[in-house]
Parts: sequence; structure tokens; C-alpha cells
Amino acid sequence: MKKLEVFGVSKLNGQIKISGSKNASLPILAATLLSGKKISLTNVPRVKDVETMIKLLESMGSKVKKFQKGNSLLIQNNKKIKTKAGYNLMSTMRAGIIVLGPLLARFGKAKVSTPGGCSIGFRPIDLHLEALKSMGVNYKIINGYVHASAKNGLIGTKIKFPKVSVGATENLLIASCLAKGQTILSNCAIEPEIKDLTKFLNTIGAKITWTGKRQVKIIGVKKFKEANFKIMFDRIEAGTMLIAGAINQNNLRIKSVDPTILKTEINILKKIGAKIIQRKSEIIIQGRKKIKNINIKTSPFPGFATDLQAQMMVLLCKANKKSSIKEDIFENRFQSVSELRRMNAAIEVRGNKAIIKGNTIFKGAQVMATDLRASASLILAALCAKGKTIISRIYHLDRGYEDIEKKLKKVGAKIRRID
Ligand code: UD1
Repeated sequence: MKKLEVFGVSKLNGQIKISGSKNASLPILAATLLSGKKISLTNVPRVKDVETMIKLLESMGSKVKKFQKGNSLLIQNNKKIKTKAGYNLMSTMRAGIIVLGPLLARFGKAKVSTPGGCSIGFRPIDLHLEALKSMGVNYKIINGYVHASAKNGLIGTKIKFPKVSVGATENLLIASCLAKGQTILSNCAIEPEIKDLTKFLNTIGAKITWTGKRQVKIIGVKKFKEANFKIMFDRIEAGTMLIAGAINQNNLRIKSVDPTILKTEINILKKIGAKIIQRKSEIIIQGRKKIKNINIKTSPFPGFATDLQAQMMVLLCKANKKSSIKEDIFENRFQSVSELRRMNAAIEVRGNKAIIKGNTIFKGAQVMATDLRASASLILAALCAKGKTIISRIYHLDRGYEDIEKKLKKVGAKIRRID
């Protein structure tokens, strides 16, 4: 099994180009199921989750051609799509559940494996299912599969989500495009990837208008058109690299980004003392010797992203005083703590709050990646640790970061993949 070997302490200096967004690509790929027309996508990141979503589409009969090392795709879904999403692919990637909405909307039926739990939390799909039910869907869960049907097609309605959910908003937004009449979704998630999905859907011919901060109106259409679409940048990769810049007096130029989307994270990094210059499509960050402490909590966008929580924790380990992070989205997202402790971090977890003591001098150790973002946090810690760190189970990392070690190596990291 592949591992990463990292030698610290590395000084990072140079440019990093950010890839296309994994979390925008996944629902956009699922949404291509709505239409039989050719769809071309560019800036698609070559990461495992995207590959899995492509495999899932192909297993249902989609034709997917890859160009330019896989960053551009041409997709066509003809009428003969199989409406079953099997366990093998669904079990490795939770976002697979987003195929449920488009399958029901176009074909009136779907049999989709439940994605199951995941290491960061319970992650149910009740919000997806209940919202689809109010659009005329009947469903049963039998032997780990959702068997769903909408005999008369989906019917537009008003849905207020009881809780803000990225995935449920995406599923319903996509499904509503082919529903009869008008659908109004409120208490929606408004992550930038959802706005990118909206842009994509409107590009292929949907009629979607955001009518309030968390409210969206969708007028059902019958036909779509051919389209080309460029996926937005990966804001979590960008945030991870910004944090890398703030540690250890590094100096990084983060390219191909929209700084306005990272406003919350940039403000936090400024508060802890990093020097940041924002340009139209790049951010320059210089870490300072003194890193100030801060108390933060994760929340849905525009709040601080839960997907950057583990990485920010590493930076706060280097702060001059005690900090805290409250995790308000997932119930089990402090798994990197025990691994960081093995590298000399002083972090205490009390319920959904982590108290980070600060002034840590990281020391290299053998550690294990437990999930995607935790993997990135271990790399960050290893880069400022004395000596060698070996990170195992990096298949988690490959699910969501394109060429991370190549990019870090280019700016001075001593990092390599070993067997
Ligand atoms: C998406 C992102 C993930 C990010 C998360 C929160 C993708 C592919 N994944 O995940 O990287 O960490 O948003 O920003 O874009 N919930 C329910 N019932 C449901 C659905 C969700 O109770 O039916 C709960 C979840 O357990 C969690 C919260 O709602 O506590 C938010 O989850 P959600 O926004 O749905 O996350 P995902 O879409 O799975």
C-alpha cells in the first residue's frame, strides 16, 4: 500500500496552481444524467472520487471520453441508461447519492445503493429522500438499496429543508429541473459549488433563479441543449495551500482562484497574523513568525468550512497561545487529533470542541490518514515537523487532491510516495 514520506522542516516558496473543484465536479457529473445531449466539461480534477463518479455513470451506460490527461470530458447519456447505482462504487463515495434525483426526474425510477456511514460521521440521506417524496416519489429501502419511483414524473412544489445540507440541496436542485411546474427550495445550502452547479444547469437549458439568500426557484423544462462548461476552482485545495503558506514563515502565490469565495478563511488567516495580498485570480500569503491564537467554529457557507478544519488545527498548534475549534457539522471529525498527538501536538477534545494548546514543536512520526482532509492535515504537520514522517493510508488523500505532492515538491517540500 502506498505511503507518503515527508522530511521537515521545509520552507515553502513559490507558485501553486489550484485544480478544478472535486465537490463541484461530482454533482455536475451526476446532473449530466438529466439530458441526452453532448456535454463537455473542462477543468475537471483527476482525483479518485471523480473517477469513481465517471465509473458510476459508465456502469449505467453513459459514454465518457477523456481528453488532455482527463481534465476535459465529453459526456453523452442516451435513452438506454440503466437506473441502478450499485453498492461497489457507491460504498466508496458518498456523493454517488446525487444520481438519485436526476434518474427519478428523467426516467421516473431508480435503484440506488445507500452510501452507508463514513468515518467523519453518521451521514444519513433522510433529507434527500423526504424532499423527493414531497415531489411525488415513493420509496422503500430494501437490503441496502433505495428503490424509488415517480410514476407520474416529479411534480414541482415548495420544500423547506429542516437542516442545511449541501448534498440534499444539490439532489433536489437537479431533480427539479425536469419537474412539472415550479419548485421553490428554501433553507438551501449556498456553498459556491452549488452556485457552480446552478450555472451549469442553466447553461444546459434549466431555468433556475436564486430568489433569496437560501431560496431558489426552478421552473421545470422539457428539453436541454449541448453545452461546454468550465468547473470552478477547488476552494478546499486553495484553503489547504493558504494554510500551508501561513505556517513556518512560508511564502506562497496561490493561482487560479477567486479570492472573494475564500473571504472567511482569508479573514481568519489575517487574524492569526499572516500577510495576505489578494489579486483578481490569485492570493499571495506570507506566514509570520508569530502566529496568534483564535477561537473558531465550522458552519455552512459562508461560515468557516468543515473541510478545512483539520488543516487549520495544525496551524493553530503553532499559535503562541491556546485556541479552540468547534465542529458544528459532523459529529466525528476530530480523528486527526490522535495522529497529530503522535507528532507532539497538545490537543484536547471535549465533545464537539477541540482545545489546541499552541507552541507545538512537531516531531516526525509514523501516522495514519483517517479521511480525506485529515490526510492533508498530516502533510501540513509533517512539513513543519523535525525529521521524517511516514503517512499511511493515503488512498484517502487521492480521493480529493490532484497532484498534491508534485505541487508541494515544486515549492520546496521534501515529500515522496513510497510503497
Ligand atoms: C458536502 C461535501 C463535504 C462537506 C459537507 C459539508 C461534497 C461531495 N461533499 O457533503 O465535503 O464536508 O458538504 O460542507 O460536496 N445530513 C442529514 N441528513 C441528510 C443529509 C445530511 O442529517 O439527508 C446532515 C449530515 O449528517 C451533516 C450535515 O447534515 O451533519 C451536513 O451534511 P451535508 O451538507 O449534506 O454534507 P454532504 O453533502 O454529504
